[in-house]
Amino acid sequence: MSTIDEKLQEAVKKLAKDFERDGFAYMEDFLTDAEVDAMRNECLRLIDDEWSKERDRHIFGNKLMSKSQYFMDSGDSVHFFFEEKAFDPETNELLVPKEQSLAKIAHALHYPNDVFRQATTSDKVKAVYKELGYKDPTVVQSMVIFKNPKVGHEYQPHQDASYLCTEPVHVVGIWFALDDSTVENGCLEFIPGSHKYPLARRFVRAGKDSEDPTMEWTAPPAEYDESKFVPAPVKRGGLVIIDGLVVHRSAPNTSDKSRWIYTFHAYDKSRCEYLKDNWLQPVKNPKSFMPVNAY
Ligand code: FE2
Repeated sequence: MSTIDEKLQEAVKKLAKDFERDGFAYMEDFLTDAEVDAMRNECLRLIDDEWSKERDRHIFGNKLMSKSQYFMDSGDSVHFFFEEKAFDPETNELLVPKEQSLAKIAHALHYPNDVFRQATTSDKVKAVYKELGYKDPTVVQSMVIFKNPKVGHEYQPHQDASYLCTEPVHVVGIWFALDDSTVENGCLEFIPGSHKYPLARRFVRAGKDSEDPTMEWTAPPAEYDESKFVPAPVKRGGLVIIDGLVVHRSAPNTSDKSRWIYTFHAYDKSRCEYLKDNWLQPVKNPKSFMPVNAY
C-alpha cells in the first residue's frame, strides 16, 4: 500500500503524462537529501572497499571489456568498472583521487545491497510504476554511473532496450541524480518523441553456451539527427524516467564537478517476456531479477 502524499501523487501523474508524450520525463526533489546522502555514502564505502582489494581494475568501454568474463558476470553481481582516463596509459598509475576513478558500479546493486534495494523499492518508486501501468515491475539491472570530473566519458546515442529487450518491447529506466546534472558535467540529452522509433539494434549473447562470454551487436549504430537532441539537466535529488526505446546520449564530463547518478531498469513481468539472448542474464543469482512489489 503506497503511503506517498497527495502532492507527490499529482507530480507523478504529470510525470506519466510527459513520459507518454516524449518518452522521458523528469521531476525535481523526488529524493530527500538524506536519501541522496545514503546512496552517496554507500558508494564511497563500496569504492573504498574495492580499492582495498588487490585485483585487476577493469576499464569500462574498452574493446576487451565486452568480451570479458568479468563483464558478463556483472549482469547479476556488483562489479567495478574504472575510467580509462583515470590511469596513466604508460605506467598505469592512478591520476585522480580514488573516489573519482570509477565509471560504473554495475549491474545488480538493487538486490544484494540494502541501501540501493531500499531506494529501488520505495513507496515513491512503486507509485511511479503504478502510474505507468506496471502491474509487476521487475528490476533486471541497476548501476551507479559516476561521470567523474575530467575523466567521465561520453555515452553515444542509444536505446536502452538494445541491452534489455522484452517481447513486446517495453522497459523503463528510473534515474536518480546524486549530484546536480548539468550541461557542463554531461547531463542526459534526448530526442523527444523518439520512443516511437523502432528498436535499431540489440546487444546479445552469441556464445555457444551460458559460460561463453561472446557478445555481439545485431546491427551497426543508427544515425540520428544531431539537431534533435535536447538536454535534460536535473538537480541533485531529481528523478528522470526513460522509455526503453527513447534515443538518448550524454557528453563527457569536462567540468570539475562530478555527475553521480543511480539508475535501474524494470520490465512488467505481467505482460512481457524478457528475452533469453539479452546479454544480461541472471545466471548465478536468479534473485537479481527482483519484483519491486515484493518489498
Ligand atoms: Fe541509456
